Amino acid sequence: MADKELHRGLDGIAVAETRLSGIDGAAGELVIGGFPVEELAGNASYEESVFLLFDDRLPTEPELESFRAELAGYREIPEEVEQVLRRAAREDRDAMDALRMGVAAADLGLDATDPTEVATRLVSVLPTIVATYWRCRSGREPVRPRADLGHAANYLWMLTGDEPDPAAVRGLETYLNTVVDHGLNASTFVARSVVSTESDLVSAVTGAVGSLKGPLHGGAPGPVLEMLLAVHETGDAEGYVRETLASGERLMGFGHRVYRTRDPRAAVLSRAAERFYADSDERAFFETVEAFEEVAVALLSEHKPDRALETNVEFYTAALLHGVGIPRELFTATFAVSRVGGWTAHCLEQRADNKLIRPVSVYVGDRDRSWKPANER
Ligand code: CMC
Repeated sequence: MADKELHRGLDGIAVAETRLSGIDGAAGELVIGGFPVEELAGNASYEESVFLLFDDRLPTEPELESFRAELAGYREIPEEVEQVLRRAAREDRDAMDALRMGVAAADLGLDATDPTEVATRLVSVLPTIVATYWRCRSGREPVRPRADLGHAANYLWMLTGDEPDPAAVRGLETYLNTVVDHGLNASTFVARSVVSTESDLVSAVTGAVGSLKGPLHGGAPGPVLEMLLAVHETGDAEGYVRETLASGERLMGFGHRVYRTRDPRAAVLSRAAERFYADSDERAFFETVEAFEEVAVALLSEHKPDRALETNVEFYTAALLHGVGIPRELFTATFAVSRVGGWTAHCLEQRADNKLIRPVSVYVGDRDRSWKPANER
């Protein structure tokens, strides 16, 4: 109807209140559970970040121990879920497709009805789903989770079967904390919309995984890494950027719906990556990454002078996750391994003060058609 105002992509429209995270897109600031992302990311364990989102406070030491133990206790997946993941791997399905199938089946054998328990179980089980798929996909047997390891360390353990390197664990943990929640992004909106109908959390997280998969949301870091590796080989960042923009393509890892500055998460992850690469053989690769950013931002501002296109989270995600040994095929799935903390916390928040999410559309179709039987059309 002509009297309805159209907000394409819901750009700038607030539809929920949340205490989980807040973004100031003009200032380039992100607060998660009351902490600037810069403070939370490098200090917290992932378990502390999730507790913070679920309970709106940091746990005491005994509470943290008990939350760690609870999460560790839910890590195993049922045999039927493993079979689904083995088949997805055999059929060369993408990691995000496998994750969607695994999450959808994750409540097999589960009789939990308490939403907080379901949320905790989902947070716990996503790394096992991703790692089981990956081990099968790369022709190896799954590695059983270890209850003596923290969330991030156990994920690395299940992927590789090797004792995790503490620097890699800290790098991964910083990443998981940095992206655990981010306002009403597309996948979180999907999750909240699903539970707003009084549906369940497994359905909400299954939908959110589907939303995260796309390159305009969580699907960018794999292509970012390919771009960075290509430029590291040729040494021609400027040529790469000019060619990409001239062909009308978007430069992955740049631009954001909300930020008009450099994404604050890019700063956190670039510092974490810098620390990580300082002691690694791939220091020269990180120098390429930093040089590429400078060239890209300058050329993007020539390309779109009236739209600030700065570095977003995915650019340094690619550099950091590559450094800590996450295969590029799992970058988006690893984003989900973190964001499931935010998705489920948003679901709990939505349930606590629910209002059905049901926007309206503007009808622009015909209004004066008259029916003809099939044989007269
Ligand atoms: N490279 C080149 N041009 C761009 C880029 C880019 N990365 N991003 C936006 N533009 C252009 C776009 O073509 C458009 O130009 P025009 O007005 O001539 O059509 C203008 O800038 C505005 O773009 P938009 O699509 O209206 O902006 P949006 O707010 O809908 O999109 C975005 C935000 C992140 C989807 C977009 O910047 C993009 O596609 N970036 C590349 C993919 C990427 O890095 N995705 C990860 C996003 S961050 C992860 C997360 O927080 O979920």
